[in-house]
Amino acid sequence: MRHTEPMGFHHVAMAIHDVQANYDFYTKVMGFELVKTVTAPTPEGGFSKHFFYSTGKNEAGEQGMIAFWNIHVESLEGFETNLNKAAGLPWWANHFAFDSPNAEHLEERRENWRAHGHTVLEVDHEFCRSIYIRDPEGNTVEFCLNLREFTEEEKLHAMELLLDPNPPMEKQFGAKIWQPEGDALVIPAG
Ligand SMILES: [Fe+2]
Repeated sequence: MRHTEPMGFHHVAMAIHDVQANYDFYTKVMGFELVKTVTAPTPEGGFSKHFFYSTGKNEAGEQGMIAFWNIHVESLEGFETNLNKAAGLPWWANHFAFDSPNAEHLEERRENWRAHGHTVLEVDHEFCRSIYIRDPEGNTVEFCLNLREFTEEEKLHAMELLLDPNPPMEKQFGAKIWQPEGDALVIPAG
């Protein structure tokens, strides 16, 4: 049965090393709120802290969250927390995209990131617009603004491309690189 109600993630959870840097980033830079910390022994011995940050509530009162693990287990020491590095992938592959409700919100988020010293990549994907930076563990976070609905033709085309071994290439996206100060470096769509 197809689920017909919109469904966001309740939360995603990632292991981290630097708790203070993580807290500073997800509160001040991302604008989220620490709402719950669970401390518990782990099956491997040792213990963990599990931090839940609220990403905000929608009009229906549903709260989005992102969670982090601070794991204290001797046998696991030194584990990799950068998901792309662990997988041998480039920085843009595994990432987390948060919903941006309107253009003003996306711009305000971008400027807040820059004010905190981040260089922001902004990409016009045509159906959505995205901004990207990396968190203290090196994981890529995104705010994404939907710009339009998908068409029936696009849905059909999506199925055609699903297993196509030689798919046609779309044009390159237009992008902007925003240093912390000054005008954006514009990379035109190709
Ligand atoms: Fe994305």
